[in-house]
Amino acid sequence: MLRDPDAAQGRFDLLLAFRQNRLELRSVDSSVLSPICVDFLLGSTAQRAARQHMGKQPLAVAIGLRKGCTSVVDATAGLGNDAFMLAALGCSVTAVERCSVLAALLDDGLSRAIADGGLQTRPVAERINLVGADARAFLAGLSTADAPDAIYLDPMFTPRRKKVAVNKVMQLTRKLAGDDADAPELLEIARRIAKKRVVVKRHRLAPPLAPDPAGEHAGKMVRYDVYLPING
Ligand SMILES: C[S@@+](CC[C@H](N)C(=O)[O-])C[C@H]1O[C@@H](n2cnc3c(N)ncnc32)[C@H](O)[C@@H]1O
Repeated sequence: MLRDPDAAQGRFDLLLAFRQNRLELRSVDSSVLSPICVDFLLGSTAQRAARQHMGKQPLAVAIGLRKGCTSVVDATAGLGNDAFMLAALGCSVTAVERCSVLAALLDDGLSRAIADGGLQTRPVAERINLVGADARAFLAGLSTADAPDAIYLDPMFTPRRKKVAVNKVMQLTRKLAGDDADAPELLEIARRIAKKRVVVKRHRLAPPLAPDPAGEHAGKMVRYDVYLPING
């Protein structure tokens, strides 16, 4: 551990720092990026979770909430926004993240949401179980009894056109986690494990991750492609 952050200048690009009771990822050159942390207590996630009619959102419809899909593995958890939304919809969520830095940030955000969240936030965070692992191995190791109703995938999106805006958090996540080139393999494994469906989040204009999804549900910016399980 570095006691003097200035000692990091020139040696590292990024620092994982514990400040003001929270874990943050910061750029050593602070002009490049403001610190990133996972905070379910503030901002848009908690507000969106508080809204009515969540069951009609494309994510809820795609995951099959009204068709009884309530146990979900989010196999690409990242910073946990989608896992939190799924938990806010009432799902019990196993969130799997293989990048240890991102998993540490999410773990910290969930711990604070459980410790300091009110009646709205705490029960949602308590429905999320974080696993630091590669989801391909995690899913392949599940027994039939532990198989989830649905598996949710949001692999890294690589825009083909430079003009597509990618926010700074996404840029940093990609820098840490890479491009998820193995996403088609993860989808294949997920389809062999999920009891009812696999949902893949894509940019609205991106091609499907695999041919012929059984259904699609479009939001303003994103699309959720639904795949049925492969048996045998
Ligand atoms: C686009 S981000 C997901 C963002 C997330 N849905 C959210 O709401 O914050 C993709 C994440 O999936 C993770 N990932 C990709 N393939 C994975 C795998 N096989 N196992 C575990 N994590 C994986 C990457 O490390 C990256 O953090």
